[in-house]
Amino acid sequence: MSAGGIPTLEDLETELGSLAGKRILVRTDFNTPLEREGDDVRITDDFRIRAALPTLQWLQERGATVVTASHLGRPEGRPDPRYSMEPVRVRLGELAPGVELLENLRFDPGEEGNDDAVIAGLVEGIDGYVNDAFGASHRAHASIVGPPRRVPSAMGRLLQREVEILLPLRTAPKRPFVAVLGGAKVSDKLGVIGALLDTVDALAIGGAMCFTFFAAQGHSIGDSLFEPDQVGTCRGLLERAAEAIHLPSDIVGLTAEGEVATFGTRLPEGAKGLDIGPGSAAEFGDVVMEARTVFWNGPMGMFEDERFAAGTRAVAQAVANTKAFTVVGGGDSAAALAAFGLDDDVDHVSTGGGASLELLELGDLPGLAALREGRSGDG
Ligand code: 3PG
Ligand code: MG
Repeated sequence: MSAGGIPTLEDLETELGSLAGKRILVRTDFNTPLEREGDDVRITDDFRIRAALPTLQWLQERGATVVTASHLGRPEGRPDPRYSMEPVRVRLGELAPGVELLENLRFDPGEEGNDDAVIAGLVEGIDGYVNDAFGASHRAHASIVGPPRRVPSAMGRLLQREVEILLPLRTAPKRPFVAVLGGAKVSDKLGVIGALLDTVDALAIGGAMCFTFFAAQGHSIGDSLFEPDQVGTCRGLLERAAEAIHLPSDIVGLTAEGEVATFGTRLPEGAKGLDIGPGSAAEFGDVVMEARTVFWNGPMGMFEDERFAAGTRAVAQAVANTKAFTVVGGGDSAAALAAFGLDDDVDHVSTGGGASLELLELGDLPGLAALREGRSGDG
């Protein structure tokens, strides 16, 4: 056992005696970005498939028959050819020949509903279960929390590494520990901001969510995105941790007339902030360079548009250059790193966006708890 009493692949092998000839169900997170051209669907990034290979190969080397299962997108509980696993199956067939892949788990409403019938169907004819779907382990869905209550179960290598890297950030980070958070919605991040403020030495906040903090400070934000119902909470966080929280000192965006411009922290009427400014990018970069541990989640601006990519690029570059131990939360920040060609220059790119934030916030996830409780778990 490791990582807080959760069985490992070795524990599963011991429990089953041998894996040779056994049928093992592996819940993977093959929710990969897709590109459509007419009827043609292509995977644009196979990072999550490659990340599962160590587990799949380990099981195959021991003679197990490996059956994987994943969701893809949000098809809302009914079969939808646009979310067929076929493009994933093709890539998986190239990377891990012989591994089976079931159809999209979310074609059945019982997956998200955590239905007993779905769980029974999944474990039928199965000798053991492995959860390697870190990116979906914050969902209490049938394929995540059900099988561990029914069959011998373990975490896969990918899940294990995520937990072993992310959990110590809560308890024993090398200091200074700096978190950089961005993205559009502050409401998605308030929980993790609150938890991080208990452990970080500095928290830099960029992305559109900085405007809700600006509003909490009483600054004018023009037409920038913000969440009026979160202003009070942001004010509370600023009162609690004014020293630790770094907000941008300048902003790049569009004027009311649609011209690109740099503003201070008070935006004129009609202006819209879309990136942190050059001064803030340099400040955030300095904070990252001086850290010994860095966690980064969320872009600093609308980096898909080159005019508003400089802030995110500066943070990505600092995260790549710093000597600190660097962890990047999944989703958009991982995509930004890859777009700048810097994904090989960080210590860990998490396969889970929402999952890594929830693990940092709460210290546990439904998928981890199910594995820990195993067949003694009720419900
Ligand atoms: C993700 O891509 O974030 C995970 O696969 C979870 O997907 P979900 O947010 O649709 O549950
Ligand atoms: Mg998500």
